[in-house]
Amino acid sequence: MNEVVAIFDFGSQYAQLIARRIRELGVYTEIVEHDISRDELLKLGPVAVVLSGGPASVLEPKHPGMDPEIISLGIPMLGICYGMQLLAKILEGSVEKGRSGEYGPATIEVNSGKNIFKGLDPSLNVWMSHGDHVIKLPKGFQVLARTPGCPVAAMGSDDRKVYGVQFHPEVVHTPKGVDILRNFLVHVAGCRGGWTMSTFIEESVQEIRERVGDASVICALSGGVDSAVVAALIDRAIGDQMQAIFVDNGLLRNYEVEEIRAIFSSDYPLNIQIVDAKRDFLDALKGAVDPEEKRKIIGRTFIEIFRSKATHINEARFLAQGTLYPDVIESRSAHGGPSSTIKSHHNVGGLPDELGFDLIEPLRYLFKDEVRLLGKELGLPDKLLTRQPFPGPGLAIRIIGDVTEENLRVLRKADVILQEEMKTYESYKDIWQSFAVFLPVKSVGVMGDERTYANVIALRVVTSVDGMTADWVNLPYELLGRISSRMINEVKGINRVVYDISSKPPSTIEWE
Ligand code: XMP
Repeated sequence: MNEVVAIFDFGSQYAQLIARRIRELGVYTEIVEHDISRDELLKLGPVAVVLSGGPASVLEPKHPGMDPEIISLGIPMLGICYGMQLLAKILEGSVEKGRSGEYGPATIEVNSGKNIFKGLDPSLNVWMSHGDHVIKLPKGFQVLARTPGCPVAAMGSDDRKVYGVQFHPEVVHTPKGVDILRNFLVHVAGCRGGWTMSTFIEESVQEIRERVGDASVICALSGGVDSAVVAALIDRAIGDQMQAIFVDNGLLRNYEVEEIRAIFSSDYPLNIQIVDAKRDFLDALKGAVDPEEKRKIIGRTFIEIFRSKATHINEARFLAQGTLYPDVIESRSAHGGPSSTIKSHHNVGGLPDELGFDLIEPLRYLFKDEVRLLGKELGLPDKLLTRQPFPGPGLAIRIIGDVTEENLRVLRKADVILQEEMKTYESYKDIWQSFAVFLPVKSVGVMGDERTYANVIALRVVTSVDGMTADWVNLPYELLGRISSRMINEVKGINRVVYDISSKPPSTIEWE
């Protein structure tokens, strides 16, 4: 394994950002729980440790801590914000509540252009966000930078190779933040860097081969980016010992099956089986209107299909799925465990243990945009890598109420029009998702001299970074007008189109 930097997560909203920045510098990093034991940490064998910020105060009796023995291991360490205050507290310096706190831009005066400030100007713009601050240094430490309101904006001990900064070097509002992180990694911790997607591929391929041996792996393809990248990676490792399965559940968009078939039989050939299970899903969904019930039925039906396919595959011991790093971190967050279930996301691969498969999750340490880079490096076509996310339960959660063949027909036709028109939008590449939703509401209209009584389509077009939050897009009126008039004229069964202008939160992206 390459050199790794451990980031202790004290519940900062920025812990993932620190990880991203360090990886961008070519150093592999993992986020660990703040109370990881000394022995567990040594197993990971980090070349450096970064302590993240966090919302707590070390002045509160019950604040998140760390095993103090770790500080004596001699591993170079950088504490950020709360991380620096915790270092000061454990090493017998002291921390105090500031009079008003310091939030936003600040300018620090740097004492010397050495160690973490090597090669940087004596005066630097930084981003602060703290209520407490260090007022007495631990023994052997020096003040490295200050602001008028914060006498210890950075501290450090060159002997111990332990440093702390009160500001946030990981955010873009600290323009030289990346240089400070690079100084810490390269000059203080002696990192070599060089971690790239091709190193990642080599290591993963090796690991997958060792783990799988002569057995077979089933890889559930959803048509989305993550599962496609998993399949390509496993294909690189074990070729036809992997059986990719794409289930046509009857809840896909127009042309989806043909597109997937074309990609994986000619652009990027791999061992793929397309299973026609339209009837199974539509029969199982009959009469289900509750969103959670629909999701559960779909999840169950997927399981039945994989289970039955596995019996025909020699030693199908493994199931591959596209779990990403944010999911892994979220399920063990410093804020206290998994968040409450808003929607039971069915990730095609999100199957229970009783299925009798061992899971292979090669992307569990990657972020979404790293997955795209990985896919590019593996040679997957751009048309696949730039696909908008599409939920596992498919159109079933975009038809409010009963999922019938007729409703699916109407929604598919409307969706094709939306996709065609969206491609003419100049900022199309900035869109996270654009889709149509079928509403079980009927309204009166007039076409020619005839009265109509037909359904409503809602348009949902959002931008988002990771799907956790989202904003509706201010589409040009002309474009909205064209979409609406085409849908009403070309799709029988629709006589009204509305535009969803809700952000997430408080709404969600999908309607169910
Ligand atoms: P929500 O509706 O929760 O969606 O705001 C956030 C993102 O997740 C996608 N999504 C799903 N993806 N299985 C998936 O694989 C699901 O069950 C599922 N539900 C929502 C949604 O399309 C959006 O990008």
